[in-house]
Amino acid sequence: MFNAQIVDSFKDKETPFYYYDLKLLKNTLTACKEASLPHHFHVHFALKANFNNRVLQVIKDFGFGADCVSGGEVKKALEIGFDAKQVVFAGVGKSDREINDALDKNIFCFNVESIQELEVINELAAKKGKKASVAIRVNPNVDAHTHHYITTGLDENKFGINAWELADVSETLKKCSHLEFLGIHFHVGSQITDMNVFKSLCVKVNEVQSWFEERGMPVKVLNVGGGLGVDYHHPDENNIADFNSYFQIFKDFLEIKPYQEVHFELGRALVAQCSSLITSVLYVKHGIKKNFAIVDAGMTELMRPALYQAYHKIENISRQLDNSEIKNQESKIINYDVVGPICESSDCFGKEVALPETKRGDLIALRTAGAYGEVMASAYNLRPDIRHVYNEL
Ligand code: LLP
Repeated sequence: MFNAQIVDSFKDKETPFYYYDLKLLKNTLTACKEASLPHHFHVHFALKANFNNRVLQVIKDFGFGADCVSGGEVKKALEIGFDAKQVVFAGVGKSDREINDALDKNIFCFNVESIQELEVINELAAKKGKKASVAIRVNPNVDAHTHHYITTGLDENKFGINAWELADVSETLKKCSHLEFLGIHFHVGSQITDMNVFKSLCVKVNEVQSWFEERGMPVKVLNVGGGLGVDYHHPDENNIADFNSYFQIFKDFLEIKPYQEVHFELGRALVAQCSSLITSVLYVKHGIKKNFAIVDAGMTELMRPALYQAYHKIENISRQLDNSEIKNQESKIINYDVVGPICESSDCFGKEVALPETKRGDLIALRTAGAYGEVMASAYNLRPDIRHVYNEL
């Protein structure tokens, strides 16, 4: 929610910029901690959702671990001060260099996605005279009922090892003396709002852990990935995800043994709501059938609408102030296609968006942009670097 004071503070700032509400971030992290701690669950933040230094600093200070998917993310997590013993390294295509660097840093665990990768990590660890801790990423073939680009847990996806390969996995683990089998890892997809998906995941996790345990291979870590969705349509009414229900499902449906740790890799649910992309209206064009509000941010700053047809709530924050004069002007609501300056037709944040009559210079907020927003920015069209404004009040 943008009150008059905040909107006023934006007036001298160059747009576009990502606005971070660090207070909301802290409230979200507190809610997550309070919901997970009673169950002794371990939460890692998925850096891929947001690697802004200020954001990471706050998350680190709350004691979360880090889930990384590249050597760059491992390096960043350690620079920020995350404990190496709380860093996991996942990813379907880890390079030798990335594996070597992570071995040097003694990270907690590699989430391994193929049998060949197990052999490579073993070989590289042997050269260093080390033992690498590994969790096997198993593809659970659970449908996340989310956008097909962000579904990862089906047999047809490139991620993880399929259940029918587990016999080969256990043979390989027995042969590889420089690997320590720590546990199993899963991730079914992102922006999951149907909690039944997580119940189905628990059933699969139980099956796979029994498979290993029956073969005399204790599973110390159950890593169930991330995926908890947020409410893109109601960012003010519903600004913190329902962590209680989410964690309760795992408590109720996972068969957790006394010696096991349960790990999570949450990205979106921790950071999505705490940021909005703020952009100015450059021009308003009235066509025969359409009106366009052309803004100074584009798909280069926030790619999700262009890439996934993702919905981000769009608000004209210059005309939503608690001021009767402006409120009167607001009585005229017009539909606009809100588009960016990039030379692509897909550079559109929303079609037929109902906004108060909008003028050049108005500030527009693209809400719920804290996850997979600035991390996916590009320099296409030689756009400037991303700017930031932080609010800690
Ligand atoms: N763990 C693994 C193995 C993952 O692949 C992901 C996300 C996460 C954890 C974190 O998931 P989250 O809690 O954030 O849902 N760019 C897309 C989302 C891609 C998600 C990729 N994997 C988007 O903008 O919606």
